[in-house]
Amino acid sequence: MAGGEPNHKYNVVFVLGGPGAGKGTQCLKIEETFGYVHLSAGDLLRAERQKMDSTFREEIEKHIKDGSIVPVEITCSLLRQAMEESNKDNFLIDGFPRNKDNLDGWNHVMDSVAVVRKVLFFNCPQDVCVGRCLERGKTSGREDDNMESLKKRIKTYTDSTMPIIEHYREKNLVAEINANQSTEEVFNDVKKVFEALAS
Ligand code: C5P
Ligand code: MG
Repeated sequence: MAGGEPNHKYNVVFVLGGPGAGKGTQCLKIEETFGYVHLSAGDLLRAERQKMDSTFREEIEKHIKDGSIVPVEITCSLLRQAMEESNKDNFLIDGFPRNKDNLDGWNHVMDSVAVVRKVLFFNCPQDVCVGRCLERGKTSGREDDNMESLKKRIKTYTDSTMPIIEHYREKNLVAEINANQSTEEVFNDVKKVFEALAS
């Protein structure tokens, strides 16, 4: 349990948006300014994939290459472990929940220990996102920042992630941000969301 106190729950802000929308970039700035712990589901999966003793290596590899979504049992346990190990209470969870399996799995195991305070949705035109990922691909070393993987990632985002954003919109939890601006301009909009959360 967060903080070791009874009835004390983790505070969670989910961060969603297409590949290249700027989730990671903004999360670093939010972490710096508002003291949240940034946990990227994609980063945790990439780290797990590198572990020689992990039984999930091949499965994760396959999904990342295909732009498809790793089963929630794997992703959610990595998130939960990172949350517990941090000994902190406020988390930005970047790139999760990406589909219904993610959402259901989270609700099943995390509902009793975490409260979702907000869902930040970085909305950005597809051509801008593609341009950013291809640019990032020149130096990121990521095997999925290429046109072939991107097409699949965008399809996964449209078919599987958008319905999750709509699900949270109906619950009035979504803060939609225009991500087609400079990093600083986007962060100005993001700041307002976190200032309101803190007040
Ligand atoms: O968020 P990021 O772009 O780093 O995710 C990279 C890949 O990691 C996704 O395309 C997907 O294959 C995998 N992933 C996943 N489940 C998540 C987040 C990421 O399977 N919740
Ligand atoms: Mg990212």
